[in-house]
Amino acid sequence: MKLKAWKTAMSLAWKKTPRTTGEFDTLPEHVAIIMDGNGRWAKKHKMSVSKGHRQGTENLREIIRHTDDLGIGVLSLYAFSTENWNRSEEEVSALMQLILDFFASEIDELDEKNVRILILGDKGRLPEKQRETLIEAEDRTAGNTGLRLNIAVNYGSRAELVKATREIAVRVRNGDLKPEEIDEKTISDHLYTAGQPDVDLLIRTSGEQRLSNFLLYQNAYAEFVFPETLWPDFSVHEYDLALDAYGHRERRFGGRTR
Ligand code: IPE
Ligand code: IPE
Ligand code: MG
Repeated sequence: MKLKAWKTAMSLAWKKTPRTTGEFDTLPEHVAIIMDGNGRWAKKHKMSVSKGHRQGTENLREIIRHTDDLGIGVLSLYAFSTENWNRSEEEVSALMQLILDFFASEIDELDEKNVRILILGDKGRLPEKQRETLIEAEDRTAGNTGLRLNIAVNYGSRAELVKATREIAVRVRNGDLKPEEIDEKTISDHLYTAGQPDVDLLIRTSGEQRLSNFLLYQNAYAEFVFPETLWPDFSVHEYDLALDAYGHRERRFGGRTR
C-alpha cells in the first residue's frame, strides 16, 4: 500500500475508534468480564504464575473506573471459579492473598465513588479472612447507588442454579409457591444477581471462547467479544474497542428487525 493510502486508512481507523465518553452508539447496561490469560502472560514474561495474577490486578482499577465513568450500570468480574480450587495450593493461596490486597487498596475509592459491591459465589468455602473481607466490602457499600460491581469468587453457574433450585423447592414445600407459579423471573430472583439486568456484553480475554461456568442463565442473550489480548495487557483502549463492537451488533432476541 502507498504511504498516503496507508495514512488515510489509519486515520479512518483512528476516527472509528471511540476515544472518550459519549462516543458510543449504544452502551450495554451490564458488562461481564472473564479475566483470562494471567498464566500465559506470566509464562511469556518468564515470571511465576503468582506474578501473572498480581499483574492481572494492575489494570483492574482503570477498567472499573472507566466502566463507572461511562455510566454502565453493572460490571461483573470473574475472579475465581469453583473449578479453580483444582490448581496448586501455591497458586490458590496467591489468588486468595490477592483478594485481600485488592480490597485493602481499592475499597476506599470504590466506596467514595458510590460503587456497590456484591460477591457472586459461595463465600462459605473461603478462608475466614477472605470471607470477612468480602462481607465487609458488601456491607460497607450496600447503601451505595452507583455502579454495581459484582465480583465472582468461588463462583460456578451450575452451583448457583442448584442453590436457586433448592431455595425454590423449599418455598414450594412450605406452601409459599405453587409449582405452576415458577417462571423465569422466579429463577432470576434466586440467583446472586437477583434484581439486576441480564448480561448484555460478555468479554473474555486471551482468545479462549467459552463460558467456563460463568453466568449461564444471565448470559442467555449476551453479545460475546473475545479479544486475543492476555488479561494483564487488556487496556481501557481495548475495552473501548469491545464496547464499540457491541454497539454494532444487531440484537434480535429471536425476533425480526428487518
Ligand atoms: C485467569 O488467568 C485468572 C484465574 C483463573 C484466576 P489464568 O490463570 O486462567 O491464565 P491462563 O489461562 O493460564 O493463561
Ligand atoms: C475462568 O478461567 C475463571 C476465571 C477467569 C476466574 P479458567 O482459566 O479457569 O477457565 P478454563 O479452565 O480455561 O475453562
Ligand atoms: Mg485460564
